Amino acid sequence: MMDSARPHERPTAFDRMLTPVHRWIWSDTDRRVQKLLRFSETETDGGRDILRAAEVTSDPLLRRLYLEHAIDEFRHGVLFRHRAAELLKVSASRSSPGFHGDWLAPGGHGLDDLQVDGESDRNMLAFLHLSEKAAASRFTVYRDVMQHDPPTRAVFEEILHDETFHMNYTLMQLARVEPKRHRRHLWRARLSRLWKAYLRLATGLAGILGSMLLTIQYFTLLPPFAWLAKRAAHRERSGWTMVSPGHSDSLDRQY
Ligand SMILES: [Fe+2]
Ligand SMILES: [Fe+2]
Repeated sequence: MMDSARPHERPTAFDRMLTPVHRWIWSDTDRRVQKLLRFSETETDGGRDILRAAEVTSDPLLRRLYLEHAIDEFRHGVLFRHRAAELLKVSASRSSPGFHGDWLAPGGHGLDDLQVDGESDRNMLAFLHLSEKAAASRFTVYRDVMQHDPPTRAVFEEILHDETFHMNYTLMQLARVEPKRHRRHLWRARLSRLWKAYLRLATGLAGILGSMLLTIQYFTLLPPFAWLAKRAAHRERSGWTMVSPGHSDSLDRQY
């Protein structure tokens, strides 16, 4: 674990506004287990991508920092997974297909959007800085709403410490490799993240709207057909029905 330059990041106004939603999402033990497992995957995948970034960069200092960063992310993955396993043992919880609110309370980083190969150091650092900043902001809120579960809170507290350092070192390194235009790269990366966040939100909303529309259709379109089918059934005579002789003349066609 690396030492952080600043102890804590303040959550963004948006994350603060969603605090009641996060509190509700994290209040359920089953949901907490599922989210911790998913966070564990995100952290481990992020670590793998940063390891790849260490391989492809030609900057020796960045390579060393990326390596340490990747080790941190792998450790975060292990911390989340162990905590999920402990919770599972206590609650004897099973995997539940219920609502997990992933698009409302996503994993910290958004590192899953990372494309390492072919990226310049400055783009990589701008992307990493914003991802780590988002992680620090969300993990601050997740830690704060976890009063009812001190061990999980401690996991977020510990990881938050690293994320704050990742956020700071990436900004410092971006300013080093691109002293004059680092702000422009940050803005470009910010717009790209905004677009991806919009797509994620739109996908989540489309899922909810789709379910609502299908439910409305079920209750408005099906009843008339059911009523017509019932009426037709009442008109049918029960039992065998005699067919008029003219209809059964031909044996080489169906009707
Ligand atoms: Fe992390
Ligand atoms: Fe991180």
